[in-house]
Amino acid sequence: MVTISSASTKPTWISALLLVLATTTIRVHGQSSTSGFISLDCGYRNTTPYTDHKIQGIQHQSDVGFIEGGLTNQVAAAFMAGAEYESQKTLRSFPNGSRNCYTLPSATGKKFLVRALFTYGNYDGLNRTMDGSLFRFGLHIGVNFWEAVNLTNMHPSSTIWKEVLTVAPGDSVSVCLINFGTGTPFVSSLELRPLQDAMYPFVNSSMSISYFRRIRFGTATEYITRYPLDPYDRFWEGWSFSYNTYPWMTLNTSTQVRRLPGDNTFQVPEGILQGATTLDTNYSFFEINVAAGPNLDAKNLQLLPIFHFAEINISNQNRRFDIYSDNDLLFPDFSPSRFQADSMHQNGRFLHNPAAIFLLNKTRSSRLPPLINAFEVYSPVRMDNLTTDAEDAHYMNEVKKHYNLARINWNGDPCSPREYSWEGLTCDYSKRNQNPRIVAVDLSTSGLKGGLVIAFMNMVSLENLDLSHNNLTGAIPDYQIKSLRVLDLSYNQLDGPIPDSILQRSRAGILDLRLEGNPVCSKVKDTYCSNKKKNKSTMLIAVIVPVVLVSLLVVMCILWKLCWKGKSADNEDYAMYEEETPLHIDIRRFTYADLKHITNDFKQIVGKGGFGTVYHGTMENGDEVAVKVLMETSIAESTDFLPEVQTLSKVHHKNLVTLQGYCQNTKCLALVYDFMPRGNLQQLLREGDDYSLTWEQRLHIALDSAQGLEYLHESCTPSIVHRDVKTANILLDKNLVGIIADFGLSRAFNDAHTHISTVAAGTLGYLDPEYHATFQLTIKTDVYSFGIVLLEIITGKPPVLMDPHTYHLPNWVRQKIAKGGIQDIVDKRLLDQYDPSSLQSVVDLAMNCVESAAVDRPSMTEVVSRLKVLLPTTPSSKVYASASSTKSTNDIMRKQFQLLISGDGNEESSSSFQSGYTNQSGYTSRMAELPALSGR
Ligand SMILES: *[C@@H]1O[C@H](CO)[C@@H](O)[C@H](O)[C@H]1NC(C)=O
Ligand SMILES: *[C@@H]1O[C@H](CO)[C@@H](O)[C@H](O)[C@H]1NC(C)=O
Ligand SMILES: *[C@@H]1O[C@H](CO)[C@@H](O)[C@H](O)[C@H]1NC(C)=O
Ligand SMILES: *[C@@H]1O[C@H](CO)[C@@H](O)[C@H](O)[C@H]1NC(C)=O
Ligand SMILES: *[C@@H]1O[C@H](CO)[C@@H](O)[C@H](O)[C@H]1NC(C)=O
Ligand SMILES: *[C@@H]1O[C@H](CO)[C@@H](O)[C@H](O)[C@H]1NC(C)=O
Repeated sequence: MVTISSASTKPTWISALLLVLATTTIRVHGQSSTSGFISLDCGYRNTTPYTDHKIQGIQHQSDVGFIEGGLTNQVAAAFMAGAEYESQKTLRSFPNGSRNCYTLPSATGKKFLVRALFTYGNYDGLNRTMDGSLFRFGLHIGVNFWEAVNLTNMHPSSTIWKEVLTVAPGDSVSVCLINFGTGTPFVSSLELRPLQDAMYPFVNSSMSISYFRRIRFGTATEYITRYPLDPYDRFWEGWSFSYNTYPWMTLNTSTQVRRLPGDNTFQVPEGILQGATTLDTNYSFFEINVAAGPNLDAKNLQLLPIFHFAEINISNQNRRFDIYSDNDLLFPDFSPSRFQADSMHQNGRFLHNPAAIFLLNKTRSSRLPPLINAFEVYSPVRMDNLTTDAEDAHYMNEVKKHYNLARINWNGDPCSPREYSWEGLTCDYSKRNQNPRIVAVDLSTSGLKGGLVIAFMNMVSLENLDLSHNNLTGAIPDYQIKSLRVLDLSYNQLDGPIPDSILQRSRAGILDLRLEGNPVCSKVKDTYCSNKKKNKSTMLIAVIVPVVLVSLLVVMCILWKLCWKGKSADNEDYAMYEEETPLHIDIRRFTYADLKHITNDFKQIVGKGGFGTVYHGTMENGDEVAVKVLMETSIAESTDFLPEVQTLSKVHHKNLVTLQGYCQNTKCLALVYDFMPRGNLQQLLREGDDYSLTWEQRLHIALDSAQGLEYLHESCTPSIVHRDVKTANILLDKNLVGIIADFGLSRAFNDAHTHISTVAAGTLGYLDPEYHATFQLTIKTDVYSFGIVLLEIITGKPPVLMDPHTYHLPNWVRQKIAKGGIQDIVDKRLLDQYDPSSLQSVVDLAMNCVESAAVDRPSMTEVVSRLKVLLPTTPSSKVYASASSTKSTNDIMRKQFQLLISGDGNEESSSSFQSGYTNQSGYTSRMAELPALSGR
C-alpha cells in the first residue's frame, strides 16, 4: 500500500529504516519480548535461523517447512548490492498452482498480526513491474480474501507490505498467495506477531482488519518505527516523511504520557504518544490524507479510523476540535487529555470514505489548533467462509502425508473456499454456519502404494471412498464409518480377510463394496468381487477359461467396430462402453442399440432440459415410451444413479410414472418411461385459450397427484421426498389421469454433486421458504410445492406472476381475496362453472399447504382425504351441471372422465377419445431454471 519510489537501486524503505535502527537502540524498553514471533525469510535456503544485525532481537528463519511448493529466488544483482536488510534479498515465487499456502502455527482463538512483505527486485529478469502490463495477485488469510497486491508500475526496488489483524480459527493460521493470471505471485518475508486478546476488540473470528495506514506524528527520524519501540512490532510510518501541504508544527516531550489503568485496547507505545503534530496558531484545521496512490481500489473503500491523542503542550490553553471522516462528523468538540492517552474510534464501525481524507477542525471556543499523536486506519476483511471441519482437515492431511500426494492444488484448506477445494474431494457446504465436511474422496488411479491408511476411519462424514486402480497392498482395515455408503477398493493388491463389519454392511445393502481385481478375490466369490452380475457357472467359466473370454471379447470388439463402421464416433463410444450393472434391478436393461431402434434413431424430441433430452419411442409390442437420455457425463460416473434406479423400479402406483427400463454405460445413461400422450398439467393449464379443463377434471388431477405424493411419503420406506413438485412434473395419461414424474432422480443428481445440492432442489416459485433457512428437504417441502400446484389449478396462473409487478402466487391470491373475493382469483376459462363451496375448500387447503412453517402444513394423507370429500366417488348429474361446456370435445372428455372415475375406463372407450391436443411430453427439467436460484 505504501511505497516510496525513487530512482535508486537500493530497496528504498530499507535505507530509511537504517536510521531508525541507529536511534531506536537507545529506546529499548525492558518489557519487550519476541516470544511467539515468527519471522520467515522466504526463499532463504539455509535452515539455520539468523539475527539480522539491523533488526534487534528478532530471529529470522527460512520458510522451508512452512510451505510446500514454490521456487526460491534472489533479487537481481543490481538490487542485491543495495539491500542491507537480509530478508529482502530472497523470495519465493509460485509459478504453479492457483493457490499456495503458508501454514503458521498458532493457537485457536488467539489474536495475531500477520504481515507479508514484497520486494520484486527484478528477480526473474523480466522487468515485470515496469513492462506496462498488469502485475497483480491476491492474498488470502485462511479461507477468506484478504487483499490484492498490485505491483503494476512500481519501481523494482520498492518494498510494499500488507498487514492483517486476525483471530486464528484453529491451531494454525494460513496465508495463501492467489494467482489471478496477471503475474507470478511471490513473497519476500512473512511475519506473525501475537497480540493480546483485549487489543482491537472489534477483531473476532468473523471479522479481521487489514492494515490501510498507521502513522506516528511528531518528529521521527526514521521512516518506519517498529520493534522494539513497539513490542507488537506494528509498523508506524513517520508523518514527517509524507507530504508537506500544511504549516505543520511538531511537538515532542520527555514527560511521561500515561494510559488509564485497564486501557489495553491499542497499547500505543509511550515513545510514539510523546510526539505530536499540530499547526501554526494562525490556522484552524488540517486534513490527514491517507489515500495511498494509484494502485489502490478506492471506489469501494470502507475505512475504520482510530485516532490517538495526548495533550503534550505544557501551556494551559484550551484545545478543542471536531473530527470528521470526509463530511461525516465523528467526534464533535473533542479535547485531548493532558499527558494521558485517548484513543478515539467508533467500536469497529467502517465508514464509507472514498477519498480517504480525515479532517480535524478547531471549534470556535478553542484557542489552539488541533493536534494528533498517532493514527491507524483499517479496512474490513470479512471472515465469512469457514474452514473445513478441523477433524476432516486433519485426517485428510494425514492421508496426503501418508501417500506423499504432491497434487498441485492439494494446498491450504481442503474444502474452502469452494473454488480452491482439493481435486478429488466432495464437500458438503449445505449446513450454514457449520464448517464444510468432506463427504467423498476420490483417489482412484493416483499411484497410491502401501497399506490402506487408517485416517479415513476417523472421517465420520465420509460417504463415498474410491481408492480403485492403485497399488494398495496388505489387508483391508475395519473401516467402521457409519456414513460410508460406497467403498471402492477395486483393482489393487489387497489381500487377507475382509472384516466382518464391512461384510455385514455390504450384505445388508447399506454398503456398496467393490473389491474386484484384488488378490483377495481369488478366494472369495461374492458379488463385491465381481463387477458383473452373473451366476456361479459363468463365474466358474470365467475363472477357468479367461483366455477364451478375452479372445471372445476381442472378436466382439472387432465385430462391434465393423458394425459401427461409418457411424458417428459418438455411437461407437456408446457401443463400446456397454457394461453390466452390479445391481439387481428387476426392470429391463436396454442397450444403446435398443434405444436407437426404439426411438427410430432418436428422431422425435418431445422434451428437453438439463437432465437430458426426451425422445419418443415405440417398443417392439407397439407401446409408446418416453426415453430420457441423461447426457451429463459426470452422472454416468455417479455411484448414486443405479441405487436410485433400483429404488424407482420398485415404486409402483397408478399415479406415479412407471419406469420401464434403463440403459447404463459410461457415456450414456437413459431411463425409459411410459409415454404420456396428454403432456403435462402446466401445458394444459396455460396453453390454449379455446379449451380449458373443467373444475372436476382439475379436482381429479389434484387428487391423483396428491395420492401419488402420499404414496411416496407414506408407503415407501424410507419415504421419498419428490423435491420438485410442480405442474410441469404432473403428467397426464390419455385418460387425463394425473401421474407424477421426475421423483427420485433429483436425488441421484444432487447427491452426485453435493456442491449444488443446496440449490438444485426445487423450482423457483415452488420452493418451501423454510428450506432457505434450514436447507433440509422434508416431505413438508413437497406439501408446500403441492399447495402452489393447487393454486395454479384454481387460478390458471403461473407460480410467479410478472405482470405488472412480480408477485408470488400465494401473495397474489391473498391480495385478491382481501380486496375483492374468492371469485376474483378463479381461472376465467372456467366461465364460472364451478361449485363455490368446493372452490372455497380447495383455496383453504392450498393456503394451508403453503403455510410458511412446515409444522402448520397438513400431511399428504390429510390433503388426500380433504380432496376426496370434494369429489363424489360416482359422478352425479350435479357435478356435470357445473362443468364447463364450451366445446364439443368436452362432452367426449366428460364421458371419458365418467368412465374413468367410475372405474369403468377401458382401452376401447379410451381409443375412441379424440381431442384437439398435439401430443407433447411433459418431461421438462428444472436445471434450466437453476441460475435464478443459485444467487441465493
Ligand atoms: C511447475 O510446472 C511445470 C510444468 O507443469 C513443471 O515442469 C515444474 O516442475 C513445476 N514447478 C514446480 C515448482 O512445481
Ligand atoms: C524496465 O522497463 C522500463 C519501461 O519499459 C524501462 O524504462 C527500464 O529501463 C527497464 N529496466 C530494465 C532493467 O530492463
Ligand atoms: C467465500 O467463498 C466464496 C465462494 O468460494 C467466494 O466467492 C467469496 O469471495 C469468499 N468470501 C471471502 C470473504 O473470501
Ligand atoms: C493496479 O495498479 C495500476 C497502476 O497504478 C492501476 O492502473 C490499476 O488500475 C491497478 N489495478 C487494480 C485492479 O487495482
Ligand atoms: C471548521 O469549523 C468552522 C466553524 O467552527 C466552520 O465555519 C468551517 O467551515 C469548518 N471548516 C471546515 C473545513 O469544515
Ligand atoms: C505394485 O507393488 C508391487 C509390490 O510392491 C510391485 O512389485 C509392483 O511393481 C507395483 N506395481 C505398480 C504398477 O506400481
